[in-house]
Amino acid sequence: MLILGIESTAHTFAMGLLETSKKQVLFHEKVQFQNDVGMDPRKLGDFHTREFSSVLLKLTEFLKKEHLTFADIHLLSFSQGPGIGNALKIGCTVAKTLSLRFNIPLVGVNHIKAHLEIGKFFTSFKDPLFLYVSGVNTQVIAKDDFGNYKIYGETEDIGLGNLLDSFARLVGLGFPGGPLIEQEAKKSHTYIELPYTVKGMNISLAGLHSHLKQCTEKGMSREDLCYSVQETVFAMVMEVVERAMAYTKKEEFLIVGGVAANQRLREMAEAMCKIRKAKFKTFPFQYCLDNAIMIAWQGYLDKDKATSKDFGKLKPLPYETVESFLL
Ligand code: ATP
Ligand code: FE2
Repeated sequence: MLILGIESTAHTFAMGLLETSKKQVLFHEKVQFQNDVGMDPRKLGDFHTREFSSVLLKLTEFLKKEHLTFADIHLLSFSQGPGIGNALKIGCTVAKTLSLRFNIPLVGVNHIKAHLEIGKFFTSFKDPLFLYVSGVNTQVIAKDDFGNYKIYGETEDIGLGNLLDSFARLVGLGFPGGPLIEQEAKKSHTYIELPYTVKGMNISLAGLHSHLKQCTEKGMSREDLCYSVQETVFAMVMEVVERAMAYTKKEEFLIVGGVAANQRLREMAEAMCKIRKAKFKTFPFQYCLDNAIMIAWQGYLDKDKATSKDFGKLKPLPYETVESFLL
């Protein structure tokens, strides 16, 4: 089955073609909004409106080169939510237009579910526990006994990636902060005690953020702080993950989202899984980030909900969660 996925929940507009029978990625192209100073929704909407056509053009050229047409695509899938309304609207409109013009069935999918399911797609894991750590999101998610995704723990305030980005900006490292902090942390092995806030199954990062600001103002060593912030926040999330693994009795563990690139976090995950005799795998980083292949794959999983006419229901759903979406 040839599926076209369209992603436009936040900073990324992407289109991707997936051949499901061979599990083959045929095409993927994206454009990304520069969000180093945050995302103004109006500017973000303008970006998607302006830039989607360059991606669509590349897809058209690809199809032509491969002697394919839009009519060869069996299913269209787009990110319906959660996300930023101004961005979601564009992906939804492009998807509906292509669906109507070329008579391709259309399905709207949950962006978070797609992040999780693409991990299973690449690793062949059956029923893992997930740590979803991006800029905005920090959640521990797994399927419950009824096969529905459930959030077992999360941040009570800011996302882990946002904490790293904000701290990196504070100490003059630049953006995106995560990879820069990772490099800086390698220069130190001096641990500075930092606030460690795990509340049951949740974590809180706002107090740590204020504390880091004070440490920076006092002129404490940047490399020591980078080392210490990684050790602290990754230990916090791994404590919750380990408890969730024990509670859910899951035997597989995956990390999705941009922070999954971090080697120190991966080391901690490996160590935890070794002790628990659980399996830990990684998959290509480009598919840990927002991408359209995960949307295409989620479309395949939700293909029974596809429609060719009932477009009224297919409107952006900015506030959906992984638990409530189209159950
Ligand atoms: P989403 O809408 O999926 O939540 P997002 O923009 O919030 O997207 P991602 O694009 O998934 O997040 O990831 C970006 C985050 O990942 C940034 O906060 C960035 O600092 C962090 N990151 C990237 N590489 C690393 C790394 N090597 N170590 C730690 N953090 C990293
Ligand atoms: Fe995402």
